[in-house]
Amino acid sequence: MTQWTHIPILAPEIADLLLTDPDGIYADGTLGLGGHAELFLKRLSPKARLLGFDKDAQALQMAVARVNDSRLTVFNESYTCLPQELAKLNIAGVHGALFDLGLSSYQLDNPARGFSIINNGPLDMRFDLSSTLTAHTIVNTWGLDDLTRILTDYGEERKASQIALAILNARRQAPINTTEDLKQIVQRVYGFRGKTHPATQTFQALRIAVNDELGSVETLLQELPQIIAKGGRAAVLTFHSLEDRLVKNRFKELAATGEWRLVNKKVIVPEYREICQNRRSRSAKLRVIERV
Ligand SMILES: C[S@@+](CC[C@H](N)C(=O)[O-])C[C@H]1O[C@@H](n2cnc3c(N)ncnc32)[C@H](O)[C@@H]1O
Repeated sequence: MTQWTHIPILAPEIADLLLTDPDGIYADGTLGLGGHAELFLKRLSPKARLLGFDKDAQALQMAVARVNDSRLTVFNESYTCLPQELAKLNIAGVHGALFDLGLSSYQLDNPARGFSIINNGPLDMRFDLSSTLTAHTIVNTWGLDDLTRILTDYGEERKASQIALAILNARRQAPINTTEDLKQIVQRVYGFRGKTHPATQTFQALRIAVNDELGSVETLLQELPQIIAKGGRAAVLTFHSLEDRLVKNRFKELAATGEWRLVNKKVIVPEYREICQNRRSRSAKLRVIERV
């Protein structure tokens, strides 16, 4: 059986900034394979609690096996459900919460999940395997305008309308079933192959649309006052400018109320050494805010 891994990004830095009370209650909104959670629990006292959320049931199973700690409670739900779950548990707010956005290396590297631009697989791209919308549905049924819109808005793809048209033409001949089929369609639009595969932006756009990633981030950012207790902190790790912009603007807005304080005025990025050890950390940006 393949042993999937995911290297947690900026883990010691996040633990230093987030874990202000060793006995506190914390949330990991994107538990993934439990890399950050494992470090948090190492640093916290036996009295502490960690609530771990992930839309991906397979990831949760792996995280529970890896962390193997009774202080961790998991929820196979979106992090946007945090306020409801905290209310059910009679927790007014947590001492700290991490949101490590996007997808894990497990999801990216596993061809069966359909996120990989390298390994061929079905056009899936769902974090939550019980949800009905897949990349296959979008690519094979959405109209020209909607395809162009997501490629533009979520992929910042400069050839959005050409790619959307190429998708429509290709699917008139035969359904577009695999990541390889889609890659070839985009490659034909570009006509050459540079260092980065020309379908990278298309894959990003589809993934964001399938999982309503930006919608979830926007909801979460509005919910922060219901999630974080006074004196508590929220840390958000983003991997592309669309998400980082949302976080930066909302944090500014919260800080302007005087009830929140930016912990880091300047965005925190991985050091060169971390990037060399883990190339996937190269686009990471960390912002932390405190409720005063
Ligand atoms: C970058 S990974 C997290 C990795 C984790 N920090 C670790 O160290 O293993 C992001 C995870 O967030 C999950 N995810 C994405 N959107 C989510 C959402 N709205 N609610 C809950 N989980 C989400 C994905 O399924 C994925 O497992």
